[in-house]
Amino acid sequence: MSRQRNLKSASKLASDHAAPGAEKDDSSSKVKGLGDQEFIKSFYILLSVVVVLIVGLLIFTVTRVQFANPFTVTTKATIKSKESLITEEELLKHDGSHPNIPIYLSILGRIYDVDKGRQHYEVGSGYNVFAGRDSTPSFVTGVFSREQATDDVKGLSPEEMLGIKEWLDFYRKDYTYIGKLIGRYYDNGGNPTEALKEAKALIKEGQRLKKLQEAENKRFPGCNSRWSVEEGSTVWCSQNSAGINRDWVGVPRRMFKPGKKDPKCVCVKTTGPSSDTGEGNEGDLNNPNMQQYPACNKYDVSCKLQD
Ligand code: HEM
Repeated sequence: MSRQRNLKSASKLASDHAAPGAEKDDSSSKVKGLGDQEFIKSFYILLSVVVVLIVGLLIFTVTRVQFANPFTVTTKATIKSKESLITEEELLKHDGSHPNIPIYLSILGRIYDVDKGRQHYEVGSGYNVFAGRDSTPSFVTGVFSREQATDDVKGLSPEEMLGIKEWLDFYRKDYTYIGKLIGRYYDNGGNPTEALKEAKALIKEGQRLKKLQEAENKRFPGCNSRWSVEEGSTVWCSQNSAGINRDWVGVPRRMFKPGKKDPKCVCVKTTGPSSDTGEGNEGDLNNPNMQQYPACNKYDVSCKLQD
């Protein structure tokens, strides 16, 4: 029934519009014009709705954040706008004494946001010496008092500087980089100072020494050792002593090194050419820095030490 009604009204519509040529064309172009206008009107309405929505969302976000934490937003915005060059005074605001200000620290003049590890750095915690300032040497000296700490690495050894580099790598990996601290390590323009260049040179030296040390540890791995009331001290060699896996065992020797007061027990190869000269067939037994333990024979793999 409703289908019939539809057919009827459809044929009526058709007869209404079945007027001769010109009239017909005129009315159809009117309809087309009206359609275009409708479309443009709808498009503008839709566009206005979208714009209003976006503006509303922006206003909502900004006001919500500001009401929730006005101090943090202001501080973060301030720092961002400063092109990541920060003064000591600004950095000090981030010393962990205000719950709403993120904690920053500086190491060799590079500033990191350590707020996610707040429990380590806030006031009263063990590592507060680093918060809101540069206390680079404290990473290796263990000076944890804010009064005594300094940012000057002068006097640190290459090995200690390497320790600082490792901490720097830790912060690079685990925390967000904020910028450079204007002061000892970066000038007003953010350029590295002489102090930073010297520090970097020492780090390089530390890396070189570490490589040498690793090579020496392979050549002369440390001994195993044990002590008991009954037996006293014993040192011995094995294929993995000191964590150096190798295809030889070696014999224990006291190694003396220039600048080192106490000798160290190392395992020395007994066969093949010397690793120094590439000659002979007694390994490194004749190395001048090595001394046989008094109570042990030349080829003993295990040695009881005399107390
Ligand atoms: C010069 C000596 C030391 C320095 C400079 C130092 C520095 C630090 C720093 C900066 C952190 C925070 C790391 C982070 O942001 O996640 C930390 C964490 C920690 N440190 Fe030390 N530390 C030293 C010695 C020690 C010693 C001797 C011990 C233990 C006997 C120790 C135990 C810990 C522990 C348990 C944590 C927390 C680790 C975690 O929760 O993830 N630290 N240390």
